[in-house]
Amino acid sequence: MKRYVLQPKDGGTFAVESETTGDVAPGPGEVLVKIEAASLNYRDLLMQSGKSASSGGDPVVPLSDGAGTIEAVGEGVTPWEVGDRVALTFFRDWEDGRFETKYHQAARGGSCDGVLAEKVVAPAHSLVRLPGYLSMDEAATLPCAGLTAWHGLMERSRPLEAGHTVLCLGTGGVSIFALQIAKAAGAKVILTSSSDEKLKRAQELGADGIVNYRENPDWDKAVYELTGGKGVDHVIEVGGPGTLPKSMNSVAAGGSIALIGVLTGFDAPDASLFPLVTRNVDLSGIYVGSRAMFERFNAFLSEHEIHPVISDTFAFDEAPAAYGKLEGAGHFGKVVISFS
Ligand SMILES: NC(=O)c1ccc[n+]([C@@H]2O[C@H](COP(=O)([O-])OP(=O)(O)OC[C@H]3O[C@@H](n4cnc5c(N)ncnc54)[C@H](OP(=O)(O)O)[C@@H]3O)[C@@H](O)[C@H]2O)c1
Repeated sequence: MKRYVLQPKDGGTFAVESETTGDVAPGPGEVLVKIEAASLNYRDLLMQSGKSASSGGDPVVPLSDGAGTIEAVGEGVTPWEVGDRVALTFFRDWEDGRFETKYHQAARGGSCDGVLAEKVVAPAHSLVRLPGYLSMDEAATLPCAGLTAWHGLMERSRPLEAGHTVLCLGTGGVSIFALQIAKAAGAKVILTSSSDEKLKRAQELGADGIVNYRENPDWDKAVYELTGGKGVDHVIEVGGPGTLPKSMNSVAAGGSIALIGVLTGFDAPDASLFPLVTRNVDLSGIYVGSRAMFERFNAFLSEHEIHPVISDTFAFDEAPAAYGKLEGAGHFGKVVISFS
């Protein structure tokens, strides 16, 4: 069996290296999944550069997001059969309910092995059934980027409603999923990007308002104007400290900010958080989601027949090039590795 591992290098970074290992088989309560597609997230770049929590130095199989077909089931496994089409969950053991810090011990592609391998053994509780209309490449984009956008919009204190306005930052995986979910739910979307060409593509997907944040450093003012001075109801905040102050300026009284990303780093934001208090804004930390959320997300996807946006597809042997593509940030939506 072929797979990749993140091999520790000097200076705390990791190399994505291929290797061949022996076959694997499911034990009691486990299944064997033949992975058919995987996708990359910004987190995988953080993992490679040593900026995110990992297994503590041992080589780990990278990538959290994969989809495939069950090839064997272990003793005592009842919900699954050989041939079932499944995706693996990001947090292996977060099935439902409130998040607990113990789930960090098994975050795929970080603190435990991920999916950039031809075969993966997984506990039966750590899978979801795929919507039938999705291809394997499409399904492989769901476990992290898709579920995070869903969680941020639909699962927290003020779920998105038809007529609300959502602000999406940039055109990466999470933001394009948020755009698609919001439009399907009957909301309006304002989206920012550094590229006019990408903004045009976002309009084709339904974005109602667009702002080029590179040409317009005061993009928060543009967002405010686009909402007629009210502000947006939800922000999908993937930028972090460099964008949060402007996201706070963009949000309406009584709105919510889903705090998701670190595209501008891990420092403290250069702004007081107090305006959130005076405007009764909810600030929710979002970390992917549970299996139960993933199942609700899949039901929504099926109801609306949403097809994830795949920007680029690479073969299994081209995995390092897929990392390079994501790092270059020229993509729109998701970068996928197709195993077939
Ligand atoms: N908390 C969680 O559970 C969770 C889950 C998934 C992702 N994340 C985080 O969310 C962020 C996005 O992840 P992703 O996988 O969707 O990333 P991605 O696909 O790599 O997105 C990259 C895109 O982000 C946009 N961008 C970069 N800097 C920006 C800035 N200063 N302002 C606005 N947009 C900017 C750019 O879009 P344009 O080219 O259009 O300018 C860039 O192409 C990352 O920080 C990631 O770690 C967190």
